[in-house]
Amino acid sequence: MLEKVELLMLEMIKSLEDKYILELFKKVPKGKRLRAKLILKIAGSSELAYKLAAIVEMIHVASLLHDDVIDDATTRRGKESINSMFGDKTSIMLGDILYSTGFAALTFLPQKVAFKISNAVAFLSVGELLDVELSKKFNDDEELYLDMIYKKTASLIEASSASAAMLAGKNVKVYELYGKNLGLAFQVIDDVLDITQDSKKLGKPSLHDFKEGKTTLPYMYLCKRINMDDKARLISLFKKNLDENDRIWIKNKMGETSSLIDSIKYAKKLSIEAMDAIKDEKNSGLEKIVEEMIEREF
Ligand code: FPP
Ligand code: MG
Repeated sequence: MLEKVELLMLEMIKSLEDKYILELFKKVPKGKRLRAKLILKIAGSSELAYKLAAIVEMIHVASLLHDDVIDDATTRRGKESINSMFGDKTSIMLGDILYSTGFAALTFLPQKVAFKISNAVAFLSVGELLDVELSKKFNDDEELYLDMIYKKTASLIEASSASAAMLAGKNVKVYELYGKNLGLAFQVIDDVLDITQDSKKLGKPSLHDFKEGKTTLPYMYLCKRINMDDKARLISLFKKNLDENDRIWIKNKMGETSSLIDSIKYAKKLSIEAMDAIKDEKNSGLEKIVEEMIEREF
């Protein structure tokens, strides 16, 4: 099922008739293809569904090429990132090539689908900028964080789900709600894994988010649950290169204060809301996507 999506993505790149771009594209670490899976599970295996899946994945890959530059990431899914291998300029331009190729292909899809996806990409970019802005100081405002992750991550998952429903003539509102909650839960889990996973499994240094100025949900919970001295220590470590002692201290404090467990509980609550939205749709494939997302290790 996903092979066809890979093939369509490759065809889109090949249509540019540029050997170097094709070579670079093949070096981009392949992701989970969550958005493609979601679209195909909702819209079935029509030609349009496959096209939409390939386009959305193409845009998503592009956004990560930019994100890795912004986040100074050296790895992506355990492999060396494009910005690390070829430099920031190449990563940004490859991102531009992928998303504009995706948008060109999107013009052949129904207009309401094209609008839904491109509008979500605008939100995606707004969300990424919010992330950059919030990272400038220690943010402990949960509402700002949730608004940012909705835009940065959930908006495209929500739009993918809604667009697939449009193609299949299904209830758009139902799938939109499913996608939104799935997307929010996905990002909360992503943020938890940055803390809980060892760097090998994650493919990036553990607690990299904090170094980048990202006070994700577990940090916000922690900050509100520790005494003044500990809070001062936590804030003194913000954006710093952490040594092993600092890492252990943060992780221990998160354990003592249930900050990690409560973040996972929050993600589970969102995933239940996603399941609830589609409970009458009798689509076990979509329930499986939620379960796998919550239980994933990277
Ligand atoms: C990953 O966040 C980032 C995103 C999901 C969105 C990135 C969006 C842009 C860079 C806007 C530009 C859009 C296009 C189409 C070029 P993260 O850093 O929390 O996740 P990570 O752990 O996977 O890096
Ligand atoms: Mg990132």
